Amino acid sequence: MSTLELRALGRSYGTHAVVTGFDQKIASGEFVSFLGPSGCGKTTTLRMIAGLDEPTSGEVEIGGRLVSAPARGVFVAPEERRLGMVFQSYALWPHMTVGENVGYPLKLRGVSRQERDAAAARMLELVHLGGLGGRQPHQLSGGQQQRVALARALVMEPEVLLLDEPLSNLDAQLREELRFEIKDLQRRLGVTVVFVTHDQSEAMAMSDRIIVMREGRIRQVGPPAELYGHPADLFVAGFLGLANVLEGVVESSGSESCRVRLSGLAGQPVVDCRGAVAAGTRADIVIRPEHFEVAPGETTGLVSGKVTRVTFLGDRVDCRVASGGAELRLALAAGSAPCLGDTLALRARDAVAFAQGPRNG
Ligand SMILES: Nc1ncnc2c1ncn2[C@@H]1O[C@H](COP(=O)(O)OP(=O)(O)O)[C@@H](O)[C@H]1O
Ligand SMILES: [Mg+2]
Repeated sequence: MSTLELRALGRSYGTHAVVTGFDQKIASGEFVSFLGPSGCGKTTTLRMIAGLDEPTSGEVEIGGRLVSAPARGVFVAPEERRLGMVFQSYALWPHMTVGENVGYPLKLRGVSRQERDAAAARMLELVHLGGLGGRQPHQLSGGQQQRVALARALVMEPEVLLLDEPLSNLDAQLREELRFEIKDLQRRLGVTVVFVTHDQSEAMAMSDRIIVMREGRIRQVGPPAELYGHPADLFVAGFLGLANVLEGVVESSGSESCRVRLSGLAGQPVVDCRGAVAAGTRADIVIRPEHFEVAPGETTGLVSGKVTRVTFLGDRVDCRVASGGAELRLALAAGSAPCLGDTLALRARDAVAFAQGPRNG
């Protein structure tokens, strides 16, 4: 296992900057995800780490060894970087057996047939495919093929494992199963992992830290719970988990909090928010669905609304409430579910306020 350091990494195509000023240290044995919408530069950044793409600026260091630094004329070839990679497409060689696929990186290094077979068998055991080395790839399911790709990526005992949306082609149940397997494997081997995904629940379930990206830049970095609870801006708040985004006018402001009167909602909707936004200015307010609670018998500081949809989800109920011109989304405990058409008085247990800056989407 190994540390990974990216310093002011940038990649442009002509005048089009695809990745800009990407600065990050990843600790040895850490599991870090790049999370962001399609086209935000995740794959490009991963390919620069792998040496499959050359940065136009900045530096990449793996385990303290400089591997990419265009300004200093440094470029270490991908196969010299001690990395394992798995992509969305399994990219197995169809004419080789499963075992030969896994052993192939060793073959390139001139390792003997016998040693290769032993290592491949060991790796297949590790990904719960023991005994299937003699099969052809097409005889395996999608999930099994992706496990083979994982085994092949691990056979060289890489310092860093790079995974680019490896679960995106699998069905929901398998995806969740493999999440745990990859996580478990990472813990047992202690390998440093960079995991690329546009799926926020995947990133939250697996990562020690998530790097949220947008338009080639880092927007926020932190452990999942921190990003969820303390999003740096509306984009991060909306990208991680569900969020009601409302507007309001700040009535009073403290050093780390403010009280906001929400616009466009029925009732007397005043909420106490985390985040200091100047009194008298407009603010964007984020309220998570699980932070609304039904407050019977209260009259002040409440949002009132009518239930327009109730969806039973087992442990909780997903509830839509129309209030003023807005539709709110609530996650309520299954036992306390309202009925369609009920009028509710709602209180927000937690809310975050952001100053309304110049809009950039
Ligand atoms: N070879 C290329 N030439 C020009 N633009 C490219 C090339 N490769 C990627 N891009 C652009 O770089 C941006 C980021 O792409 P990518 O890193 O693949 O995003 P992600 O993996 O986050 O979906 C996209 O706008 C894409 O069109
Ligand atoms: Mg990509």
